[in-house]
Amino acid sequence: MRILKKISALPFFSNSFNIVPEAVSTDIEKSALKEAYKNYFYIGVALSLDQILGKEPKTIEVLEKHFNSITPENILKWEEVHPELNRYNFEAVDRFVALGEKFKMHIIGHTLVWHLQTPDWVFRDEAGNLLNREALLQRMKDHIFTVVGRYKGRIRGWDVVNEAIAENGQLRKSKWFEIIGEDFIVKAFEYAHQADPDAELYYNEYDYEIKPKCEGVIRLIKTLKSKGVHLDGVGIQGHWFIEWPDIKDIESYIEALSSLDVNLMVTELDISALPFYAVDSKVVDISSFNNELQKKHNPYPDFLPVVAQINLANRYADLFKMFLKHKEKFSRVTFWAVHDEQSWRNYIPIKGRTDHPMLFDRNCRPKPALDAVIKSAQEWKK
Ligand code: GLA
Repeated sequence: MRILKKISALPFFSNSFNIVPEAVSTDIEKSALKEAYKNYFYIGVALSLDQILGKEPKTIEVLEKHFNSITPENILKWEEVHPELNRYNFEAVDRFVALGEKFKMHIIGHTLVWHLQTPDWVFRDEAGNLLNREALLQRMKDHIFTVVGRYKGRIRGWDVVNEAIAENGQLRKSKWFEIIGEDFIVKAFEYAHQADPDAELYYNEYDYEIKPKCEGVIRLIKTLKSKGVHLDGVGIQGHWFIEWPDIKDIESYIEALSSLDVNLMVTELDISALPFYAVDSKVVDISSFNNELQKKHNPYPDFLPVVAQINLANRYADLFKMFLKHKEKFSRVTFWAVHDEQSWRNYIPIKGRTDHPMLFDRNCRPKPALDAVIKSAQEWKK
C-alpha cells in the first residue's frame, strides 16, 4: 500500500520508464538538493580523485547544483597524502580545496588518525622496529600540524579520529592504541586544535546499531568533553541498506547522541540496494561464486528495476524525514559518492558487483531517490 501510494507520487512513473531502462527523474531540473535543505543543514558529498582532477565534467555540474559541502573520499587519508616519511602529496588536495572555494562550499578534511589506509612505516623506525609512545606521538603531531596547518582557515572541519571504538565498546586494539595508549585520541584532538584553532573537529564512527559500541562512543565523547578536549561534532557514517537498520533504531541512537553537547552529522551516507553479505576481513570477487550465488548477491548487474528504485527512494525519504525531525542537532548530511559508479559498495565486501546506492545513476542522471529527498524537505516546510 505504502509503496503504491508513493509510486504514483513520483514523477518518472508517468514518464518514460518503459523506454529508459533505469528510472530517471525529470522534475529535478527544477530543484536543487542544497536549496531544499538550506535552512536545515549542509548537504555534502565525497569526491574521488578523478572528479577533483576535473575528469568527470558531468559530476561537477551536479556538484555545483546540488551540494554545498565536500569531503575527499580518499586523498586526505594518510597513505595518500603522506605515503612516505618525508613525502607529502598535496597536489590533489590543493585542487580539492580550490574547487570547494570556487563553489563557496563547506570543506571537510577526512581523516587524520585511523587504523586503516595508514602505511605500516608510520608505526616503525628505520630499522623496522615499532616506535615507542613518544616517537609515535611526535609522528602524529608532525602529520597533523603539516596537513591541518597547510589548509588552516580553508578546510573548515576535520574528521580527527575515525573508527576508534570496537564492537564491544572498548577502544579498538589498533597500533595507535597499543603504542600510545588510550590518550591517543585526546592527543590527536589537541594537535588538530593547535594546528587550526578555528577548525571544527569531529569524531567519526560506524555501526552505532551495535549497542555496546554505541555506548562506548558515548562514553568516549563524555570523557573527551570532561577533559576539556575541543570537539565540535560526532559523525555517524551511515553505510546502510534498504532493509537495515530499522529507522527506529537509528533514531534511538540519534536521541542518545543528542544528549551530548556536540553537533551530529551523517558523514558517509549510502544505501546499498544489494543483499547484505557479512563483511569478512578479506574482499571476495563475485566471479569466484557459482551462477546461482552470483544472481543472489549481484541481482541488478544492468540496471535497478522500478520497484527497487522505489524502495530506495522510500528509504531515503524516510531517513531524511527523520533527520529533519532532529534538524536542530544536525549540521550536515554528506553522501559518500556523487553517483552509483563511484561508490565503494561496488567492490567491498564483494568485488565486481553493481550496486545502486546513490541519488544519481552511472550516467549522473538523477534517480527517483533524489526527488524523494528533495520532496521530504519541501513537504517539511508546509
Ligand atoms: C570508512 C571510511 C571511509 C571509506 C569507507 C568505505 O567508512 O571512513 O573513508 O573508506 O570506510 O571504504
